[in-house]
Order: sequence, then structure tokens, then C-alpha cells
Amino acid sequence: MKAAVCTAYGPPEVVTIMEIPKPVTGKGDILIKVAASAVNSGDVRVRGLAVTGLMRVMMWLVLGFSKPRKPVLGVVYSGQVEETGPEVTEFKPGDEVFGLSGFRFGGHAEYISVPAKSIIVKKPVNASFQEAAAIAFGGQTAHFFLHQAGISKRVKPEVLIMGATGAVGSAAVQIAKYYHASVTAVCSSAGKELALRLGADKVILYDKEDFTKTPGRFDVVFDTVDKAPKKICAHLVKPGGVYTTVGGMNYAKESREQLEFVKRLFEEGKYQAAIDKVYTLEQIMEAHRYVDAGRKKANVVLVISN
Ligand SMILES: NC(=O)c1ccc[n+]([C@@H]2O[C@H](COP(=O)([O-])OP(=O)(O)OC[C@H]3O[C@@H](n4cnc5c(N)ncnc54)[C@H](OP(=O)(O)O)[C@@H]3O)[C@@H](O)[C@H]2O)c1
Repeated sequence: MKAAVCTAYGPPEVVTIMEIPKPVTGKGDILIKVAASAVNSGDVRVRGLAVTGLMRVMMWLVLGFSKPRKPVLGVVYSGQVEETGPEVTEFKPGDEVFGLSGFRFGGHAEYISVPAKSIIVKKPVNASFQEAAAIAFGGQTAHFFLHQAGISKRVKPEVLIMGATGAVGSAAVQIAKYYHASVTAVCSSAGKELALRLGADKVILYDKEDFTKTPGRFDVVFDTVDKAPKKICAHLVKPGGVYTTVGGMNYAKESREQLEFVKRLFEEGKYQAAIDKVYTLEQIMEAHRYVDAGRKKANVVLVISN
């Protein structure tokens, strides 16, 4: 099968299209013909080993020393079930699914094999494969952090989303709106239209205005881009409110329930797939370059088959 293989840690050029063996389907596994995936901040961070200090040591240990042990990157996929192992009862060939492969990666290839018990669910009925691939990563992450901040228990909360146009931020705006929040989005002038389209009530353009000087106070301040540490945001949090960030050592745990939640919102028309650019598998290097720049608006999709 054709796959985008990360041959070393380094610039986008280390990712090459190669023919590699199709994955073997174990007894409890599902083989999926991948229709679409996404190139996320996580993929380019792993490829470039773009971290320092203790985090770099941890990444070496988890991912491999000289190159990624799992050389086919891609933590999300959507596609059709081609084959199931004998112990699989929940899915059958032909099912249209989407999911997250986490540290197994493998989404940037024509086929992926995942355990049936992993983070995989049937694709939203009204989503294209590209849309399904786009909503998984940001939706899951934003759901995790906002729920940790108690979003579902707060009544009409005031929420500030710092970095409202990234994969995580664009999802966070929409999930916060689902919980009847009044959302203040912090983004650049280039992202204003997207933030408003996703439902933000107010936009602070960080290239024109210092958001830390806003007179507002918030129940939840969510830094989705790791650019606004607690020490500069603490005064923006109301008593009883919460500051949360994607930075630091708090990692979003993935779960099937979270993916089901994102799927339900999409099916109810309360969540958009916000796609910035679409690349083919053959254009993987270009996709990595674009995501590396850190300026993508919401999601970059990789089309793998029709
Ligand atoms: N802890 C976890 O479990 C976890 C999970 C997932 C992701 N993450 C981390 O979360 C971060 C965001 O991930 P992502 O996938 O959402 O990233 P992304 O989509 O690549 O973020 C790009 C977006 O960030 C915006 N941005 C850049 N600098 C900004 C600034 N100073 N203020 C406001 N917006 C800014 C850019 O808009 P402009 O170009 O218009 O400024 C662009 O739209 C990454 O650091 C990632 O490693 C952590």
C-alpha cells in the first residue's frame, strides 16, 4: 500500500511516499481503507521533534530515538471497514467509520488497522469523509479541556478562547457555544471571519489589541495555543472560574465518548468541520510545510482515496 513515511526526525522533506506492506488484521482488529486523514500540529511536532528539555527526552523514549518507531504519522482517519478480525462484533465490512489512532499513528496511508476497542465510531451520517477527518482531533481535545474546566455545569458561562482559529481553538469556540457560553475569541485579523462564523460573540484581534487588557472577566479562560501563560491571564478569571491550557503536562485523554459527542454535535448541525486546505497523500510534504508555519485556520485535510 501507499503511505507517507517519516524516515527521520527533521524538516517536511523527511516525509516520503513509499510502498509498504498492508497492515495485518489481528483477531480483535479492524482494517480500514482510509479515505481521509488530517495533518495536525501533533504530526508536525513529532516529525520535527520540535520540543526541548524533558519533553524531548520523553518524546525520544515514547516515539523512538533516531526516527519515529511508528513511521507513518497521522492520528486521525476516516474511511470504510474492509475487514474485521474474528473477535470483532461491533463493526462489519462496509461500515463508514472515523477515529483517532493516538500513539499508534498510521492515518497517512491507504490502510490502517486499529483495535475494535480503540477510539473509533461510525462516521456522522451527514459528514463527508473529509469532514469526519477534520472534526476528530480538535473536537476531542477541546472537549477534554472544556469539560475539565466544568463547562457543562456552568450556567451561560463567559468563556475566553485564546487562539480561536487553530484546530483546538475552532473546536473550543463551537463546543463552548453548544453549552450556551458567551464566547470571546482571541485571534489575528486573518482569523476574524472564521471566529465569527464559528459562533464567537466577540473577537479580540491580538495583532491590534492586547487581550490581557480587556475589561471582561471570564468563567473559563482557555489558552488553546500555549501562548498565554496563567501569569498573564490570571486577572481575567472570575472568582470560581478556571484557567486552562494545552501547554504544560496536562494531556487530553482520548475517549470514544468524546468522539461520539463531536459526532452528535455535527449531526445536529451544531458543529462545523472548518477545513482550511485539502491536500492529496502525494502532497504530504507541502501539507507538513503549511501546518509547520503555525498559521493554518482550523483543519488541514489529507485525501487518501475516493
Ligand atoms: N495538551 C494536549 O493534550 C494537546 C492536544 C492537542 C494539541 N495540543 C497543542 O495545542 C496547540 C494548538 O494545537 P492546534 O492543532 O490547534 O494548532 P494549530 O491549528 O496549528 O494552530 C494554528 C492557529 O493558531 C493561531 N495562532 C498562532 N499564534 C497565535 C497567537 N499568538 N494568538 C492567537 N492565535 C494564534 C493561528 O492563527 P494566526 O496565524 O491567524 O495567528 C492559527 O490559526 C499546539 O501547541 C499543540 O501542540 C495539546
